Order: sequence, then C-alpha cells, then structure tokens
Amino acid sequence: MDWNVDAIPDQSGRVALVTGANSGLGFETAKALLEKGAILILCCRSLAKAKVAREELYGITNSGKIELLIFDLGNLIEVNKAVDQLERNFQRLDLLINNAGVMAPPRTLSKQGLEIQFAVNHLAHMALTLRSLPLMAQQNDARVVTVTSGAQYMGKIIWDDLQGQNKYDRWVSYAQSKLANVMFALELHNRLCKSKYKVASLLAHPGLAQTNLQRTSVAANGSWQESLAYKLIGPMFQSAKMGALPQLLAATNPTARSGEQYGPKFNFRGYPKLIPIAPLALNKSYRERLWEVSKLLIGDLVDIKGFSS
Ligand SMILES: NC(=O)c1ccc[n+]([C@@H]2O[C@H](COP(=O)([O-])OP(=O)(O)OC[C@H]3O[C@@H](n4cnc5c(N)ncnc54)[C@H](OP(=O)(O)O)[C@@H]3O)[C@@H](O)[C@H]2O)c1
Repeated sequence: MDWNVDAIPDQSGRVALVTGANSGLGFETAKALLEKGAILILCCRSLAKAKVAREELYGITNSGKIELLIFDLGNLIEVNKAVDQLERNFQRLDLLINNAGVMAPPRTLSKQGLEIQFAVNHLAHMALTLRSLPLMAQQNDARVVTVTSGAQYMGKIIWDDLQGQNKYDRWVSYAQSKLANVMFALELHNRLCKSKYKVASLLAHPGLAQTNLQRTSVAANGSWQESLAYKLIGPMFQSAKMGALPQLLAATNPTARSGEQYGPKFNFRGYPKLIPIAPLALNKSYRERLWEVSKLLIGDLVDIKGFSS
C-alpha cells in the first residue's frame, strides 16, 4: 500500500527541527509533523518569512507548538550560534531534517568564501548535524534526514576544484552538492554505528516537486529559456506535499532504517519507496575523503568535536 501522511505515528512530545521550513518541502514537512503533535523548530534565514510560515501553520493545524530559529546556512558562524541557542532553549532534539537548499545560482560565495551550493546544501548541514548529535543522542529513535536529489546520480566530486574557482558550471556544482549530501549521510550512518550515539541517518530524495526552488533559480539567472522549460515540463512535477513524503517517511516510519534512502516510486514522482543510493556514494574511500575535506573547511567555526570521529 502507498505510504502517506496518515501513516505517520503520533509525534507528541518529539522535537523536530526543519531547515528551510518557510517554503516548499520544508513547509510541508513541518505541517505534517505538527499535525501529528511534534514541537516544531522552523529554521529560516528570514525572520519575516518565518513569521508568515508560523502564522500559516497555526492557521492550518490550529494546534501545536512552533519555535523559530533564524540563521543563514551560508555563514558557519551563524550555524554555530544557532546550535548554542538550540541547546539553551530546548532540552531535546528528536528529528533533524536537513532540507534547505539552493539550486544552480550564478557563482555566489558564502560568508566564508565557499561556493554557495557546496556551503549551504552540504557543509552547513554537516556542521549543524555534527554539532547537534550530542543533544539528539539523548533521545530514543532520534533521526537525521538529509534531503538530496535525483542529481546525486549525475554528480561528481570535483576534488581539484571543489569550489568551482577554475571552472564554474552551476548545474555541475548543484549535482556535486547533492551527491555530497548522500556521501555525508551514508558516512554518518557508518560512523554512528561504530559510536556510542544511537542516532539514525537517512536520506530522502523528493523527485520533481513544485516549490520555490525553480522560481528562485530562474530569477537569479534571468534565463527565459529555463523559465520556458519549467513551464513546459511543469505538468510532470508533483505537488510539494507529495515531494515531502520521502523525507516524512524517513523521519517517522518505524520500519525505516539508518543508511536507507527513500524517494518517489517512479523516479521523479509518485509515493515514496526505498530507492538505491548513487553508486559513487558507496565508495568508502571517496566518502572518507569528503568527510575529512569538509571537516577542514568547517575548521573551528562550528564546534563539532562532541561527535569525535
Ligand atoms: N523541488 C524539487 O523538485 C526538488 C528536487 C530535488 C531536490 N530538492 C531539494 O529539496 C530541498 C528543499 O527545496 P524546495 O524544493 O522545498 O525549495 P524551496 O521552496 O526553494 O525551499 C528552499 C528553502 O531553503 C532555504 N534556504 C536557501 N538558502 C538558505 C540559506 N543560505 N540559509 C537558510 N535557508 C536557506 C530557503 O529560504 P528562503 O525562502 O529564504 O530562500 C527555503 O526556505 C532542497 O535541498 C532541494 O535541493 C527539491
């Protein structure tokens, strides 16, 4: 039988943090978890957008508790401060949904001077996760869900030009960041299995879903050709509500296991099912190399020493 939000078990008392919660898949994820009783921490970079999302969520669900955590994933110093705030204000964290993302902008740099897709989609979420693990490890069935994309299957890690300094192709960089999501989540799973932390790491890929992702990309690039292409293929896209199902399943289904990836049944649309991981991410030495490079780039800006790996 197809899995949908009706199958989400009661989440009362569980604390869920969703990055990019004001829009698209993050918003739908927050809504579904809230409707099942979870306490939601909406992570957004814009306070104004976060407040609008909170009002809308209260209006729809008429219940629950929603907190806002405002920080820019494009600045690792803000990521570190956000977890300080999280530790001060919450005694627990059960679900971390690494959802926020940026797709194919013109070459843009993060506050630390790193290519923005690598920095936001991968590095900031890795830092946020590793710093949050000690808090999460205190709970039963704590899970990290990292949202990737079908772009993982086309992605490569450009080891000698990770930041696209010599040659920037915005789609190659997007695919690299989404493959990095998979490599990180899988490596985290392996390291968690060997550690004292009982936290699961799973992956979700939404297929094609109507969100602000495409609009933002078109606006940033000013490309009428891409705008037209999205209009033409628009009917193939599923709703944001459908696109959020794989991450909701990974976060809540009692049978979903650490190290697994969920995505749409028909590759880019449909109800969620267990799907294969990009072959490149199965390469252990490749994953270990990315882990070490990423740790070096995070440096001392985020205190990730709590999870000693
Ligand atoms: N939609 C699809 O078809 C599709 C397909 C494959 C994968 N995905 C993945 O799904 C995830 C969610 O995307 P979506 O489709 O829901 O797109 P979306 O509607 O554009 O939402 C993206 C969210 O990420 C936030 N964000 C971007 N940069 C940020 C930063 N520097 N700091 C903090 N937040 C930031 C955005 O905030 P603002 O609103 O402030 O910009 C927004 O809340 C992404 O990881 C994306 O790669 C989506």
